[in-house]
Amino acid sequence: MADTPLSQTAAKKRLVITGMGHYFPPEVLTNEFFEGLDIGAKADWTYERVGIRQRHSVLTAEDIRQLRYGLTTRQELVDAGRVATMAEMCKEPWQLALSRSEHGQESPAIDLVISGTSVPDWDIPANACSIAAGLGLECTAFDVNSACSSFVVDLHAARGLMLSEMASSVAIFNAERYSTRLDFTDRGSCMLFGDGAAATLLSSHREAHGLELIDTIVESSPSGFQSVRMAEGGLFTQNGAAVQRFAVTKTVAITRQLLARHDLVANDLAYFVSHQANYRMLTSACDKLGITPEQHLHNVELRGNQGAAGAPSVLSANWDRFKVGDLIAVAVVGSGLTWGAALFKRV
Ligand SMILES: CC(C)(COP(=O)(O)OP(=O)(O)OC[C@H]1O[C@@H](n2cnc3c(N)ncnc32)[C@H](O)[C@@H]1OP(=O)(O)O)[C@@H](O)C(=O)NCCC(=O)NCCS
Repeated sequence: MADTPLSQTAAKKRLVITGMGHYFPPEVLTNEFFEGLDIGAKADWTYERVGIRQRHSVLTAEDIRQLRYGLTTRQELVDAGRVATMAEMCKEPWQLALSRSEHGQESPAIDLVISGTSVPDWDIPANACSIAAGLGLECTAFDVNSACSSFVVDLHAARGLMLSEMASSVAIFNAERYSTRLDFTDRGSCMLFGDGAAATLLSSHREAHGLELIDTIVESSPSGFQSVRMAEGGLFTQNGAAVQRFAVTKTVAITRQLLARHDLVANDLAYFVSHQANYRMLTSACDKLGITPEQHLHNVELRGNQGAAGAPSVLSANWDRFKVGDLIAVAVVGSGLTWGAALFKRV
């Protein structure tokens, strides 16, 4: 999409994230658990190459063992009620987002719910509808899905609608359950992902406090759509090495583009958050950008790659750390291929 900054009039409107929340299911899977699946996965290899020690899962370790040995199927687990729905996963993040916003525990008048996820519950209806229904939000609801890039793409869509006054209070939900769509016989992919959910409450109220959304950029290269994929009803697969090059290159390029648009340099940022795919990739991108370890916020080591929920769960977990005036940049990459960035200022 054209990356021209919005008009002066639109730019004067203030959009603020007034609250965020995050959630991880209680089951924790260590690298040693994957080593015990007898698929050749080495716990040390995973930590050294990917920087992940553990991740959370909506499935129990026993469910995963059963899947690995072909003793059950994803559908049987869903039918037995063993897979939390996205609406269930979004309850806690939503309550936390509300408690952090000026609305306290009361539901504010939300006029739009957007959901972006890699692993939806439903083909129809839009997953935003099932999440909104589960949370008692009776308003316009639709999906804006861009796999792991969804958080920034959702912000981008919400920003456009809010600046053109088609929405004034928007709830964004990014819930991920990769554990239900992994091949637990593939040592190269099944240990990468963790499940989690994040909620983001955006307001155009003039007095709002929180993280002001200054800018968003979204770009894609659809010719690469086969590089990371999950066919209908199928399991996750990717060309890891190629995606790794793409992810580092695009994270660096889009962050530089975002900074240049605002006459900023890396040193001006209080914090930087990126897609939580692989800690080694994150540090490589940070080194190229000149982002110091103190500026770099992440959670991939303990949460794994949570797809669309990764970057917002990092922001949410650090919500109380941000001080008025702090500038925070977020860069994401994902299947599509897609990539995007957002700039925030704590107000
Ligand atoms: C997937 C990824 C971790 C693989 O790391 P890599 O350094 O590229 O490693 P390779 O895939 O080349 O594998 C090297 C070897 O380690 C093996 N290996 C893979 N996983 C392993 C594990 N858990 N334990 C032990 N060995 C493993 C491979 O089978 C391969 O063995 P071989 O040489 O005998 O074939 C890495 O490419 C990556 O993180 N890619 C980007 C992923 C990403 O960003 N995805 C999100 C997109 S939205």
